[in-house]
Amino acid sequence: MTLTLLAMPGNEAQANALAIRMGCAVMLPQMRRFPDGETYLRLEGAVTQNAAIVCTLDRPDAKFLPLVFAADTLRDLGAGRVGLVAPYLSYMRQDTRFQAGEAVTSRSFAHALSRSFDWMVTVDPHLHRYRSASEIYSIPVSVLHAGPLLAQWIAAHANAPVLIGPDSESVQWVSAVAAKLNAPFTVLEKVRKGDREVEVRIKDSQILETGRQAVIVDDILSSGRTMLEAVKLAKRAGAPSPICLAIHAVFAEGAEQPLSAQGARIVTADTIAHPTNAIAVAGLLAEAIRASVAA
Ligand code: R5P
Repeated sequence: MTLTLLAMPGNEAQANALAIRMGCAVMLPQMRRFPDGETYLRLEGAVTQNAAIVCTLDRPDAKFLPLVFAADTLRDLGAGRVGLVAPYLSYMRQDTRFQAGEAVTSRSFAHALSRSFDWMVTVDPHLHRYRSASEIYSIPVSVLHAGPLLAQWIAAHANAPVLIGPDSESVQWVSAVAAKLNAPFTVLEKVRKGDREVEVRIKDSQILETGRQAVIVDDILSSGRTMLEAVKLAKRAGAPSPICLAIHAVFAEGAEQPLSAQGARIVTADTIAHPTNAIAVAGLLAEAIRASVAA
């Protein structure tokens, strides 16, 4: 495929996996910080009419400006259309003004990215109050779903699974995965009391007393508190060694240790590079990139 595929720093492995599937080369930017903190960026090599930048968007603030510079530079060097491949799309959780005066950052971020790109491909963005990404993004967005891949992983690694969704928002993922596996599931009630403080409750704890392998399924593992409280609850309810399965391994500082201390096995998709990655999304992404380029 004739495509300039640019990998922003930290995205080389995903870009290489995509390049193999799509028969193109990976372009790597030269980037460094000037002493004053500004970004130096240089792209070397021929740029084709169609270009895409691979940049997963965890820790987005530091990534954003270099990403905009890279998109602009691809256009300066000859690209007619520039797409963004962001396996994890950040700033989706502040989707309303919870308190007077708060920034609705999901909307501002969407406007900013829509100005720099012609299309975007992403995996399971956190759609809660927005029904679709197009409510805030003015460019075409291919929203891919990792659910079938999670189901495949569970089928291969968990004997007689029972799935747990840690909060009402997770019902969309957990119910889809449970349906694929024909497995029972329950959804917990979660109350978030702060950035790193959550409480969870279960209404039907008998579902966890059946000797089945408990698998907690969530979209994002950030502070890890949601998973941690769900693990503790599952253990109390009679499921001794639950597996934590998340799509996006954000892993804020300090997230991993308390979960490991509970003896929980953590498995994630590779939308964000992390040692817990065990589920590859390159196949999904490659197909959507081809379709976006062709559109
Ligand atoms: C929230 O609704 C999401 O689906 C996740 O449950 C949440 O982002 C996890 O965050 P944390 O790891 O900080 O508890």
